[in-house]
Amino acid sequence: MAHEVVVVGSVNADLVVRVDRRPGPGETVLGSDLVTLPGGKGANQAVAAGRLGGRVGILARTGDDGNGALLREALLAAGVDVTHLLVADGPSGVALITVGPDGDNSIIVSPGANGRLTEQDVVAARELVAGAAVVSLQLEIPLVTVAAAARAAADAGARVVLNLSPAATVPSDLLALCDPLVVNEHEAAFLLPAADPSDDPATLATALLELGPRSVVITLGADGALVATRDGARTVPSPRVEPVDTTGAGDAFTAALCLRLARGDDLESAARFAVRVGAAAVLGEGAQSSYPAEGDELPS
Ligand code: RIB
Ligand code: NA
Repeated sequence: MAHEVVVVGSVNADLVVRVDRRPGPGETVLGSDLVTLPGGKGANQAVAAGRLGGRVGILARTGDDGNGALLREALLAAGVDVTHLLVADGPSGVALITVGPDGDNSIIVSPGANGRLTEQDVVAARELVAGAAVVSLQLEIPLVTVAAAARAAADAGARVVLNLSPAATVPSDLLALCDPLVVNEHEAAFLLPAADPSDDPATLATALLELGPRSVVITLGADGALVATRDGARTVPSPRVEPVDTTGAGDAFTAALCLRLARGDDLESAARFAVRVGAAAVLGEGAQSSYPAEGDELPS
C-alpha cells in the first residue's frame, strides 16, 4: 500500500546532557549524565507520523555502527517502512545536544552517513517517493539530494513539504515546489535579508510567499503557528504547557501537519492538530521519546 508520508532526511543519535548554563569559549561546566536517544530531523518526523498511526516510509542513511542499529530499531518500533533505510561504512549522524533549565536546547550536528545520501539514492527509491501523498524534507542531508527528492515527488503528483532547518539558502525552483514551506522566525528572517526575526509573522509570511512557495507555515513556539497562502494568513494558537524539553517539537509539529495534509485536511485544520502534537512533545525528555501515540490525549 502506498504511504501517506515519506520522509527523505536525516537520522542522528542524540547525545543529550542537561546543563544549568552553557559554557563560553575556554570554559568547562558540569552537566547531567549523558543519555543517547534516537533523533535526527528526518527520523523524528517519520517516528512522529508513524506513532500517530500514519503509513510512513523513510529514505535515509545510517552508518554501520551501534548508533545505526539503535536508529533503525526506533523507526521499526514506530511502524515506519525501513526498506529504504540505507547503510554506509563509517559513523552515523550524531547530534550533540545541551538542554537548559527551561527545556531550551542547543544542537551541533555531525552529519556522518547523512552526508552520503545522494541523488542516486533518490533515483533508486523513486517508487517510494512517487507513491507518497506527502513527501517531507529538511536540510540535514545534502541540498542536491533534497532538491532531487522534491522534484521526483512533484513530478509524481506528491505534495512537497520542506522544513528549512537548519537554515540554508535554497534555489528558487525548490522553494516553488513547497506546499508549505515550514520555518521558524529565525529561518524566515534568514531567507529575507531585509527582515528581522522579531518582525510581525504575517509580514514575514507575505514576504516569504513572494519567494515562490505555494504556502507558508511559520512556527512560533509557545505562540503556535501562522499559516499563510495567497488567500491570506491565520494564526493557530498553541495549547499552554510547561516545557520539559523542546528538542524535536518542531519535527513532531511538521510530521503531524504532513499526516493531516496527506489525509485531506486543509492547511489550517492540519496546523490546529499539529500545534497540539508539538505541545505534547515538549512535555517529555528527548525528541522521539516524547512523541504522542495515536489515541493519546493531547494538550488543548
Ligand atoms: O530537531 C531536533 C533534532 O535536530 C534532534 O533530534 C537532532 O538529531 C537534530 O537533528
Ligand atoms: Na521533548
